[in-house]
Amino acid sequence: KGVITIDPGYKNTGSCESGVTFLDGEQGILRYRGYSIEELAEKADFLEVAYLLIFGELPTKEQNDKFHEDIKAEAVVDEDVKKIVESFPKSAHPMGVIASLTSALTAFNPSSVNVDSEEDMYRAIVKILGKFPVLVAWTLRKKQGLPLDYGDDSLGYVENILKMMFKKPNKEYTQNKVLVNALDKLLILHADHEQNCSTSTVRIVGSSHAGLFASLSAGISALWGPLHGGANQAVLEMLEAIKNDGGDTKKYMAKAKDKNDPFRLMGFGHRVYKNFDPRARIIKKAADEVLGDLGVQDPILDIAKGLEKEALEDAYFVDRKLYPNVDFYSGIIYRAMGIPTDMFTVMFALGRLPGWIAQWREMRLRKEPIGRPRQIYIGATERKFVPVDER
Ligand code: CMC
Repeated sequence: KGVITIDPGYKNTGSCESGVTFLDGEQGILRYRGYSIEELAEKADFLEVAYLLIFGELPTKEQNDKFHEDIKAEAVVDEDVKKIVESFPKSAHPMGVIASLTSALTAFNPSSVNVDSEEDMYRAIVKILGKFPVLVAWTLRKKQGLPLDYGDDSLGYVENILKMMFKKPNKEYTQNKVLVNALDKLLILHADHEQNCSTSTVRIVGSSHAGLFASLSAGISALWGPLHGGANQAVLEMLEAIKNDGGDTKKYMAKAKDKNDPFRLMGFGHRVYKNFDPRARIIKKAADEVLGDLGVQDPILDIAKGLEKEALEDAYFVDRKLYPNVDFYSGIIYRAMGIPTDMFTVMFALGRLPGWIAQWREMRLRKEPIGRPRQIYIGATERKFVPVDER
């Protein structure tokens, strides 16, 4: 009731109270449930962080083991889901495939739709944490013409993801600690980011009491866009375009500043961070380490560093407080890991899954009302209908 104010893009409108993630954009602070992102990326593993985000506390050893066991028990998918995977063309974008498969899980797991008790929620949560990596791996493997297999129960959560993605028939899977650690870190850095576009989508869809999987599928679709999670694919495509165009970063800087040119420097700028993105700092360092450890010489990394240096010294970027964001360097690491460019945003979704779940659970437990923004009508005033042959 009262006056409706319009705030396009919700730049200054809070949608909820939340105890999950704290973010101070001016100071570049990001904390999950009070723990700094720097410390978590250094000391925790992804599953611990998932537990922390969803349930509010770091798990004890017993809680962690049980959580992992419950997730492992759910790391299977109905064989009929394979038929759906098989039916997609190889050219399908993986984000469209994974959003569809996540939605399809609702049909195969009807008991996960109407969840009201905490116990029902827990079961739906471990189901999706178990099944989602299988679907991610199958999305990749279908594109590559590889068999749709399962993982290995004896491995850690993240290591198993890599195994499911990259295991080849008749070839022993060789575990690479550098890759496992790098992926663990990347997933932690992406795990939550308060009320961004996809998380707000998950909360608003879930607020109608649509099931968890349907809400997550909507979140995946929101993440797909190049202004949000799709930026990681767009960054790499941009860096490759610059390389193929002779590596002239200045030319692309000029394009980004030209208001008549729709081109934006992908991986730069953020709605909330106005001094630096703390995730980008950690990822930049990780990119150096991973490429060094793997012995990869990637000219793309040099172009990225050159572009960053120029942007940080350029008045246009400085005035608008545009800094590299989390997506600027993540693609370079994914590429070094052998993950195809169009899978990058799927990897982001894999990381963001615990955050979406935590925010959905919080919204349901707090019994938040259905999300329903208002508008100010600017269309025609009342008009009389004119039959089609008189128009
Ligand atoms: N390149 C060139 N100019 C830019 C860029 C950019 N990447 N980002 C913002 N600007 C300019 C923009 O044109 C505007 O200029 P002016 O004031 O002269 O009109 C000013 O900076 C403010 O930009 P805005 O679009 O009003 O800011 P926003 O908060 O609505 O958008 C953003 C934030 C992230 C969508 C935007 O910075 C952008 O499009 N960046 C590139 C895409 C990207 O990297 N997205 C990933 C975000 S981080 C991952 C995630 O959490 O999703």
